Amino acid sequence: MRDTAVALTAAGIDNARFEARLLLAHAAGLSIEQLIAHGRDATPDGFAAALRSLTARRIAREPMAYILGEREFWGLPFKVSPAVLVPRPDSETVIEAVLSLMPDRGRAWRILDLGVGSGCLLLTLLREYPQASGVGLDVSNEALAVARQNARALGVSGRARLVSGDWRQAGWSERLDGPFDLVVSNPPYIDSAAIEGLMPEVARFEPRLALDGGRDGLDAYRLIAAAGPELVAADGHLVVEVGEGQAVDVKGLFDMAGLTPLAPWKDLGGIERVVPAKQ
Ligand SMILES: C[S@@+](CC[C@H](N)C(=O)[O-])C[C@H]1O[C@@H](n2cnc3c(N)ncnc32)[C@H](O)[C@@H]1O
Repeated sequence: MRDTAVALTAAGIDNARFEARLLLAHAAGLSIEQLIAHGRDATPDGFAAALRSLTARRIAREPMAYILGEREFWGLPFKVSPAVLVPRPDSETVIEAVLSLMPDRGRAWRILDLGVGSGCLLLTLLREYPQASGVGLDVSNEALAVARQNARALGVSGRARLVSGDWRQAGWSERLDGPFDLVVSNPPYIDSAAIEGLMPEVARFEPRLALDGGRDGLDAYRLIAAAGPELVAADGHLVVEVGEGQAVDVKGLFDMAGLTPLAPWKDLGGIERVVPAKQ
């Protein structure tokens, strides 16, 4: 563990000791708790080689979630692969905002998630609203395969329809079988030129499709706002995650499209992270 932590520190990784412990546990096929309890047992066959290979991947700055194949979101385990964005704690603000705007947990709400990725937003909401059903759209078939796997593992696959589609194509929203009581989205929102300057875990490993929001980062919001009035049912909500500093512009786009923007929600860092709107 010490050698691994030293190697990770030399590669510029914070929290090196904690990460070293995660890599050791993964290489040994143990949970962190088991590793702590059995840390002095003999190592399993192939352990040293497995640890070397995992450490090399992390030193190359591959995100820990891709190495472990899993990331927790809203207390639930989500499988992840390099085809999907790693679920972020900031995105839990979307779930908080929705639960507050739609307090009735027993209704058979119809939910749409635009850019479903791993499924962390849609599938968490289907767990929180046990009578609800949902559609998750993504342009990436590899991402949809991950979302399907997560839907099965979380026991909501019977209520989730995961469909391939591209919001840049004319007529994209007509095939979704709307309107919906709730439309959520965490679309790509980084401006194209800023991507290279992001931390290596993001810039080198996360899918560009999940990051690139075009010249000003707002391309996807323009298309989602334009389809909003048709996709959101009367009395329904549209709730989107935004990047730092984008809330004012996104509210403006929703307003121009004929929706009624509500006050943004802040994340734990105090940044306006979620913009809700009413039909
Ligand atoms: C920022 S990720 C969000 C994933 C997941 N909802 C989350 O919150 O972690 C954006 C997702 O939008 C998808 N996407 C990007 N462009 C798209 C498009 N033109 N049409 C449909 N989906 C798109 C990407 O493949 C990616 O899965």
